[in-house]
Amino acid sequence: MSIYLDNGATSYPKPESVYVSIAEYMRNNGASPGRGNYSRAMEADRLVYMTRKALCKLLCVPRPGQIIFTCNATESINMALKGYLKPGDRVLTTSYEHNAVARPLKMLETDREIKIGLIPSTPDGVSDMEWYQQELSKGVRLVVVAHGSNVIGCVTPLDEIVSAAHRHNTPVLVDAAQTAGVYPVDVTSVPVDMLAFTGHKGLLGPTGTGGLYIREGLELSTLKEGGTGGMSLSPFQPSDPPDRYEAGTMNIFGIAGLNAAVQFLLDTGVEVIREHEIELAQFLMDGLDTVPGVTYYGPSSAKDRLGLVSFNLEGQDPNKVAIKLDRDYEIMVRAGIHCAPQAHHLLGTAPGGALRVSLGYFNQREDIERLIDALREITYS
Ligand SMILES: Cc1ncc(COP(=O)(O)O)c(C=O)c1O
Repeated sequence: MSIYLDNGATSYPKPESVYVSIAEYMRNNGASPGRGNYSRAMEADRLVYMTRKALCKLLCVPRPGQIIFTCNATESINMALKGYLKPGDRVLTTSYEHNAVARPLKMLETDREIKIGLIPSTPDGVSDMEWYQQELSKGVRLVVVAHGSNVIGCVTPLDEIVSAAHRHNTPVLVDAAQTAGVYPVDVTSVPVDMLAFTGHKGLLGPTGTGGLYIREGLELSTLKEGGTGGMSLSPFQPSDPPDRYEAGTMNIFGIAGLNAAVQFLLDTGVEVIREHEIELAQFLMDGLDTVPGVTYYGPSSAKDRLGLVSFNLEGQDPNKVAIKLDRDYEIMVRAGIHCAPQAHHLLGTAPGGALRVSLGYFNQREDIERLIDALREITYS
């Protein structure tokens, strides 16, 4: 049986209810939400509302209208950055951001002449908070941080980042692509200003789903305008969220799946998932310690990291190892740069990158035992 260890890219398998829910919605409803007053369209509308509500419960968002549906975290981050930043603005961010953050910022550096400051960080992902506080006092319009790194596996201490930024009235945008669903996210007790998430990773939903939480009182300019199903006589985009940001027909099949996925997470409990991932990550790191020539990166304790570990085997090209793992052992891991070049520069692993094992709720110890056995064989061959 093949073993899937690439949940950081996208989670697999999904809970059974996700498959059932998408198929059922496609087969038995199929209407567009908010686009009709017949019962199936209204049922679709209700499904969208229930999914917003479920996400509110999961992420501790006060009101459903504060969640904007998008097609992934990348779209959410673009919506936030391009909707908020103005020419000449200064932004602080980290050295381990995914290209979903780094590339739109780079684009805005050219297009709007924004200035980007990188918070210095150790290879374990510990940010230099003194530098950060000093820079904030010089005037910063936005802080953008990944909640969890998809390479190093470190978790950003959002409370410290947010409270320091708010002392200078600087809002914080959080990229929760790697944490939503697998690590507690609470936008009420840690009052981030915007939080981007994707539906297909830790949230266990289908690809093509995601969202952006925007705190009350913060208004972005829109990335796109168009039909919303309501206020159709007005030539202007509605001003209130979520309609303000959700032009065009929704991915309602995806939302049907996401709704089932979030329900699964609420029933299971994020703490239970987190505990399972900590246990597996520790088991993985202990196993890697027994393989000669392994160097792994990021925090040394599983409690301080996400359920993913990047590593290299001495003298071996990570891409070739990944191909061997797949071809000879049916084990799927991700090798290379993981769309986060700065993180690999920080680790000193560019340009080849590293192997990344990213665990999920449905992985078991036996999966890791088979991986470790395979790595030992590859090392000795
Ligand atoms: C930290 C991080 N941010 C953003 C993204 C982008 O997510 P998506 O491709 O779903 O937009 C990823 C995906 O790998 C990620 O790991």
